[in-house]
Amino acid sequence: MDLLIESGGSLQGEIVLPGDKSISHRAIMCASLASGTSLIKGFLESEDCLATMRSFQDMGIDITRKGSLLKVEGKGLYGLKNPQKTLDVGNSGTSMRLTTGILAGQDFDSVITGDQSLLKRPMKRITEPLNMMGFSVTSQKDGTPPLEIFKVSQANSINYEVPVASAQVKSCLMFAALYANGTSTIHENSQTRDHTERIFKEFGIPIEVIQSKIIKTISITPPKEIKPCNIEICSDFSSAAFFILAALITPNSHLVIKNVGINKTRTGFLMALKEMGGYVDIQNISGEYEPTADIEIKSSKLKGINLEPKLVSNIIDELPVLFIAAALAEGKTRIKGVEELRIKESDRLESMAKALELFGVPFTLSDDAIDIIGLNQPIFDHNFGQPFEDAEIDSFGDHRVAMACAIGALRSKGSCRIRNCANVSTSFPSFLEISNQLGLSIRKV
Ligand code: S3P
Repeated sequence: MDLLIESGGSLQGEIVLPGDKSISHRAIMCASLASGTSLIKGFLESEDCLATMRSFQDMGIDITRKGSLLKVEGKGLYGLKNPQKTLDVGNSGTSMRLTTGILAGQDFDSVITGDQSLLKRPMKRITEPLNMMGFSVTSQKDGTPPLEIFKVSQANSINYEVPVASAQVKSCLMFAALYANGTSTIHENSQTRDHTERIFKEFGIPIEVIQSKIIKTISITPPKEIKPCNIEICSDFSSAAFFILAALITPNSHLVIKNVGINKTRTGFLMALKEMGGYVDIQNISGEYEPTADIEIKSSKLKGINLEPKLVSNIIDELPVLFIAAALAEGKTRIKGVEELRIKESDRLESMAKALELFGVPFTLSDDAIDIIGLNQPIFDHNFGQPFEDAEIDSFGDHRVAMACAIGALRSKGSCRIRNCANVSTSFPSFLEISNQLGLSIRKV
């Protein structure tokens, strides 16, 4: 499926976006391991999260779904059943890495696989520490999936410093720690999203978090039982990022996105945009378990920045969107230390560099960094024309590249085609519908 985008548009009014992807995965997992019935409100009905839901259904968990409302009949920490088939989590790295942490502790052998993109992604980052604990998880020779997980009679706790900035690795080990013998301690020296820490607390799992200036230490003691819990999931900040960008770069826009998750381990993008001169204002903050707010955005003239390296892990999924903002800004934007982008759903540094080239944006690229020379086009004067060249861009099947480029195309001279966009449904199935409600001309071809 391709997307055809006509340039132009101006975003007005208020929108509400679907649920958070990271929290939706974790909610299914915790609710499945709890003893009793949990209700999940605001579940993201995207391919990735539905793949997690199906995997736990395959392991005997009764889950009924009415739209975004889920009822999960948890069977307890030791209640999962042998799925008797390979679990397939499609495009979802989060689902594979976190589910493997749970599978490692089960009393049955299992195999977990995914689509062509997921089969290229590195899994040694989880198999190594899991095997250090005494679990038995094997990948293919080159460290990629499918993963085979063999039952073990006992596993030890771990004291481990996560060597890469990855919430998926941290969370995999946090789930595995529920099946270890004793208290595990996991250390993290760059701050990654903390949804697992928060949801463990909600489900009453004994967890202690100590945050010093340089390192965070998470201690987990395996509980006898996990209490069921009703969870309300906020809107996904990563989905909001596409419309934040759209409102910033189109003329006369004034948009409010309601009730978005603003967990500070996710919102580095807002800090970067503010530094670039973007009008983004956070209002009506509420929520304790996961903070939420309304985000107001107005069309803004942007200037280039040197992105603070410590923001990288808090902006990791929004970097493709930031590249587009940088491409329209005045001056150079320097983004360093982003080698993790090379191993996402596509090599996002490469995919976005190709897109920038086709849009006519100068840049220099290295293994782990990009400098983008903004085209400095004012947005308030349409007579200046539109800065990006009309382009036919391949998203390489990467949902975030597809949506970032579709929004970028609103500032093209006429129209653009983005190829290979079916995977938009892995994270944001209603992207087109909401774009069209806002009057943007983005359609499937
Ligand atoms: C996620 C963690 C991040 C992020 C992904 C979702 C999660 O991946 O890119 O989209 O839900 O834990 P890494 O842990 O690989 O950085």
